[in-house]
Amino acid sequence: MAHNNPWPDEGNTGHIWDEDIRELDNPPPLWWMLSLYAGFVMMVFYALYYPTIPLKDSHFEGLAGWTQIEEYKEDKAVLENWRKAKFAEQEEQLAALSVDEILKNDELKTYAVKTSKVLFGDYCAACHGAGGQGNPNFPVLADDDWLWGGKPAQIKASISNGRVGNMPARGMMGNLSDEEIGQVADYVIALSEGNADQPKYAAGKAVYTKGMCLACHGPAGKPLAPAGATNLTDGVWRFSGDRDEVIKTITYGVNVKKGGELTENTRKAVMPAFKERLPDPEVNIKRLAVYVYSLGGGQ
Ligand code: HEC
Ligand code: HEC
Repeated sequence: MAHNNPWPDEGNTGHIWDEDIRELDNPPPLWWMLSLYAGFVMMVFYALYYPTIPLKDSHFEGLAGWTQIEEYKEDKAVLENWRKAKFAEQEEQLAALSVDEILKNDELKTYAVKTSKVLFGDYCAACHGAGGQGNPNFPVLADDDWLWGGKPAQIKASISNGRVGNMPARGMMGNLSDEEIGQVADYVIALSEGNADQPKYAAGKAVYTKGMCLACHGPAGKPLAPAGATNLTDGVWRFSGDRDEVIKTITYGVNVKKGGELTENTRKAVMPAFKERLPDPEVNIKRLAVYVYSLGGGQ
């Protein structure tokens, strides 16, 4: 910094570096000062208009009463009204037609399937998997193996009223011994593999008759009508095809109750009723029935 000032008249501050770099004492330009004042005005305006100042237990809410969540709700309502207006015709048709009729109308079917995905994700996927591919102990919906029937009306009834399968422990009369259960388990596994005709399964086949398994699972392991019992011949396991697990199912049954409570080891298999759980159930149950039907296995 120099102490002698070679430019005494130009109004510099006397701070000089590197021989000739000087600090001048000019006022800031007018435009700059005006922006600064405008900034102050805006600051006061914002502070009063919007929620700003934190108080002890709450905050100053602002003169406009604006909140982010209100703005979000208003925007959402605009979008929803737009959507309602745009799809009003399709929604009316869904409300008016039966599931069978919707399935016959390609355009409407596609619409129902597309608008089901979020609904299915919210209400069904936790149990049945994101694409209806099932989860351990929850049935696959994307195949043609139905407990309660794959006709549109049956699927609709499953969703609307729920389903509770029932299988007594130790055969219909509850009188099968552990040995007999072992034999019938082997027979059932052989049924699923298609070789149950072999003589070594004769004992198991006799137990199948004694335990009246055929009343629900059909004479040859295939239910005569869908009423909740599994088809034992198709190799699709609702619970597990592991021998110990098959024995467990036969020993403790499915949804077996004692004194109003499920017994400890019984298989739990409850499909909840959705007619009171879904928003707008009248339309949404049909929508989901169309979706489930078209996952691949509708009959
Ligand atoms: C809490 C778990 C759970 C939820 C949530 C659930 N389900 Fe189920 N669902 C089940 C179980 C368990 C069964 C099998 C009942 C049985 O074994 O008899 C089932 C059975 C079904 C069936 C009958 C399948 C057949 O083979 O006949 C359909 C259809 C079905 N669910 C559709 C749905 C739809 C659509 C939703 C969503 C709205 C849904 N489920 C939500 C547990 C659930
Ligand atoms: C009153 C009807 C009924 C009778 C009798 C019955 N079952 Fe069942 N069975 C069912 C139902 C319902 C299910 C469970 C279906 C579901 O919820 O997924 C089931 C499930 C099973 C399963 C599980 C299959 C799988 O895919 O995991 C086996 C194995 C089985 N039964 C074998 C038998 C045998 C063996 C007998 C005779 C000792 C028998 N059942 C008697 C109704 C019956």
